[in-house]
Amino acid sequence: MADYQPADSGFALDRDCKTLSRHVLEQLHSFGPEAQDLSALMNRIALAGKLIARHLSRAGLMESALGFTGETNVQGEAVKKMDIYANDVFISVFKQSGLVCRLASEEMEKPYYIPENCPIGRYTLLYDPIDGSSNVDINLNVGSIFSIRRQQGDDLDHTGADLLQDGHQQLAAGYILYGPSTVLVYSIGRGVHAFVLDPSLGEFILATEDIRVPAHGPTYSVNEGNFWQWEDAIRDFTRYVHRHDGYSARYTGALVADFHRILTQGGVFLYPGTTKKPEGKLRLLYETAPLAFLIEQAGGRASTGHEDIMSVMPGEIHQRTPFIVGSTDDVALVESFIQDHSRRQSTLLST
Ligand code: AHG
Ligand code: MN
Ligand code: MN
Repeated sequence: MADYQPADSGFALDRDCKTLSRHVLEQLHSFGPEAQDLSALMNRIALAGKLIARHLSRAGLMESALGFTGETNVQGEAVKKMDIYANDVFISVFKQSGLVCRLASEEMEKPYYIPENCPIGRYTLLYDPIDGSSNVDINLNVGSIFSIRRQQGDDLDHTGADLLQDGHQQLAAGYILYGPSTVLVYSIGRGVHAFVLDPSLGEFILATEDIRVPAHGPTYSVNEGNFWQWEDAIRDFTRYVHRHDGYSARYTGALVADFHRILTQGGVFLYPGTTKKPEGKLRLLYETAPLAFLIEQAGGRASTGHEDIMSVMPGEIHQRTPFIVGSTDDVALVESFIQDHSRRQSTLLST
């Protein structure tokens, strides 16, 4: 009797079995404790994504989904009901997980502790539960951004001080993009991979492995409504792309959606500093650092305009940074305008 061979539908079946948790273990070529932890962490994040996607898909039909709560968060921003729902989903999926002792979120001034996890849980989740929340009420793309760091020390004073380290301390990072389909993109430092939620299975299934960002792309993505609040260098870059063929503007108001386009098709996204917010609007620990981790894993770059995002040492959990991210050539072009202006300024000052 010949050995059993799966039918030629093996590919389709195998693909449907390439779930996130299996992919993590395959990435690490290990079934050891840290690999199992990362696999379990990603599984919980996938569960959070499914719960949020489900809530968004029925947002117009439910009381607790659209509109504002009437509160203002630590960022000084009006809080959407969806921000709070999603924030609490991530907390819930990590309770009783034994994995995560602390969660630091855009929506919470201080980290949230899960005491029953803390003696053993050695991981911290940093996240933006709903990114692009201004899009929620108009049924446009929003996302969730996450970053996983290892807890260093016991954090007995509950300040999360050990989190104030550069982006190289990230063990994993990624985002969930809630769009026509729900896409989860992640990296554990071995390339960037995209999964698509199959609602009939309730599983994220591998769609694209080892995403590579092109060295150049046609898209520049920036809110030109801030034009007169930018430094001259950014205005000059914008004038350059206005005057030269081959560029097109795309901007959705949701960082995750704009980033996903840049990651897959190339180009550059910018959220520069403005006169009102010299450090820009986007937050380092749960927006720009996770996305910088991903873009570097995909062969691109992320910069403040003066230094790599991955090297920035945060002074506090909600620190903001200017953000220039995307194809190596396009990020370098933006930086060249900044460097030219710096040179001109220092020449003027020295005369
Ligand atoms: P969040 O909804 O988490 O506060 O993030 C919104 C961010 C980001 O998603 C987007 O790129 C940016 O805000 C848009 O800001 P502007 O409306 O100022 O362009
Ligand atoms: Mn955000
Ligand atoms: Mn947010």
